[in-house]
Order: sequence, then C-alpha cells, then structure tokens
Amino acid sequence: MALKRVMVLTGGGDCPGLNAVIRGIVKRASQENDWEVVGCIESFNGVLREPTEIQILDEKTVEGLQIQGGTILGTTNKGGPFAWPVKNPDGSWTTVDRSDEMIRKLSYLGIDAVINIGGDGSQRISLGLAQKGLKIVGVPKTIDNDLSMTDYTFGFQTAVQICTEAIDKLVTTAASHNRVFIMEVMGRDAGWIALHSAIAGGADVCIIPEIPYNIEKIKQKIEQRYNKRHGYCIIVVAEGAVPAGGSVTGTVTGEVGYQHIKLGGIAEQLAADLKASGVEHDIRCTILGHLQRGGTPIAFDRVLASEFGVRAMEFVLEGKFGQMVAYHHPDVVGIPLEEAVREQNLINPESRLVHTAKGLGIEFGD
Ligand code: F6P
Repeated sequence: MALKRVMVLTGGGDCPGLNAVIRGIVKRASQENDWEVVGCIESFNGVLREPTEIQILDEKTVEGLQIQGGTILGTTNKGGPFAWPVKNPDGSWTTVDRSDEMIRKLSYLGIDAVINIGGDGSQRISLGLAQKGLKIVGVPKTIDNDLSMTDYTFGFQTAVQICTEAIDKLVTTAASHNRVFIMEVMGRDAGWIALHSAIAGGADVCIIPEIPYNIEKIKQKIEQRYNKRHGYCIIVVAEGAVPAGGSVTGTVTGEVGYQHIKLGGIAEQLAADLKASGVEHDIRCTILGHLQRGGTPIAFDRVLASEFGVRAMEFVLEGKFGQMVAYHHPDVVGIPLEEAVREQNLINPESRLVHTAKGLGIEFGD
C-alpha cells in the first residue's frame, strides 16, 4: 500500500517549542500505518530550491526532541513562495511569485498535506496556498504572543521566564550601584513579554508599543524610587515601544528578502532622553535580544507545542484543512486561516493585566 505523505516545515523566527511540535506530529502519525512525515528544510525553501531539500522524519529522528530549542528543520523569515527573491542583471533584487510552481512540485513529490508551523507572516502564506487548493494546516508560533485567535503561542512563556530571570539578576546589581537599568526585550507590535516579565520581576516601569510613553512620567517615577542618591529603578521596554508622537527605533538591514525594519535601540534612546531630561543617576542598558528565543522550552511550552503537534496531525487525518490549530483552554480547536490572520493580539491598555501592573505601582509612561 502506498503511504500518504504529510510535509512539515517551520517558518519565521525560531522559537522554543518548534521541535516539540515536530515530535508531536511525527509521534501521532506513526500510530497510523498509512502515513509518513517528511520535513522541508528552511521553511518552503527546501521545495523551492533545486536540488530539493526534504527529509523523512521518523520516530527515531524525533526522539527526545521536546527538550531541544531552535528547529531541526531550519527556518527563515525572508522570501517565501509568494515573494521569492531574484537578482536582476544590474545587481538589484526583485521578488517573483512561485506559489503555483511550488504547488505543482509538491504534487510531483507525492505530498498529500502540509503542516506549516509559523507566526502571522507564515500563516498568511498558509492562507494564500490554501486559497490555491493546497491541503494545509497552520500551527501558531511566536515568542511575541501576538496571534489573536489562540490563548497563547508556545515559546512565549519561555521568553517571559528568561526575561524575568534577567530582571532578578539586574535588581541586585542595580541596588548595589544605585543605578537605573533599562532592559530591552522583544515585542515588535505587542508588549506581552515586557508586561509579563515586568510584573513577575517586580520592575518599576514597563514601556510597551500599545501605550506611547511620555519621558517626564518616567523621570518622575525614577525620582520617586530614590531617596536623594540612594535607590535604584528597573525599566523594562519592548523593542517596538514609541514615545508619544514619535516613531519606532530600528534600522533597515539591507538583507535580501527581509521585509521588516530590524527593531532595536530603544533602550539606548530612552537612556539618552532621560539624561537629556535631567536624570542624574547612572543609567545602564541591557538588551536581551535573541537570548529570549534560544535554548530549551520550559515545561508549559513543551506541553502546548506537543498539543499543537498532535492536533495538527489529527486535522490532517480528519481532512480538516485551511485551518490553524489554536489553544482555547482547555481545548485545541481549529480556526479558519482567514480569521487566524485577521488581527493581532495586542494589549488593551484598559485590560485587567495592565490594571494589575498599575496596582503594583508599575509606571507605563502614559
Ligand atoms: O517576531 C518575533 C521576533 O522575535 C520579534 O520580536 C523581533 O522583532 C523579530 O522576531 C526579530 O527577528 P530576527 O532578528 O530573527 O529577524
């Protein structure tokens, strides 16, 4: 009997728990005797490239994989089937749509279904391919937790844990030196990592993209934290934060196929603005960067990722395509891809969690 074949891939920025999803898919598929799983290398690139880069994933390949950070399949947040970068004769770059060609190639490779593990950009690609008839299931991923149709994305809690442990460490050095510390964390459009870690770590100020900040408010909070020269202050700022009336801090990378502004630098900008506004205390900045995305997923994320992996494979078995698996406590449900990518999960400034933070005395700069 010919085996049916499901292809799994990971797209966008890596995230703790990707491997646990892959393991869940393979483990569940191996309980059937008519399915095999193949992995596509570096998002859809493995199919788009010649020679093709796909590999068989069996139970042996995924043994113990729930512990491992990153993704064994590799990933990319550049290009893709709808915007494949091509170099012009004059050295400049353009993009071409290779989606139809890719769908034909998947059929030639005997791929019956695809599971795409990725964030909003990747799920938009899933939607485009589903609209062209590809049998595809999406699995939501992002440390930023900015997908609206799932209670949580895996990787987020691991990132929060890493940031909280970093605040715990900064508190001791800040207190010893009577310093202001500004810790910059990830969060392009949504400040979930900053908000959760600020509460868990006992920070004094939390600056998030959803609440533009006023430098004077932050200065006042810093002064409250000092008795003349003794005291310290911990500020957590999301990379996508903006001053009231201002814009995000970042650079254009020039990397081929990279469609984002590379955010970063808001901590240094804030330090300079605080100094300019008259803050006399020492200020130091810590930028956690990709430390938040690396390493082993915590238990919560291993469980969530495993739930997503098993459920995504069940969707394939049940023929439920064009959907993204989503966590709606205590269930894992299916959300049509159109709805899944419609809006982002941003922090409501009036939400209970922001009130809790304010109740703890955390200043948002609003
Ligand atoms: O989307 C997740 C994220 O971690 C963002 O918070 C961040 O801006 C981006 O990825 C950075 O990705 P990279 O450096 O891999 O391009």
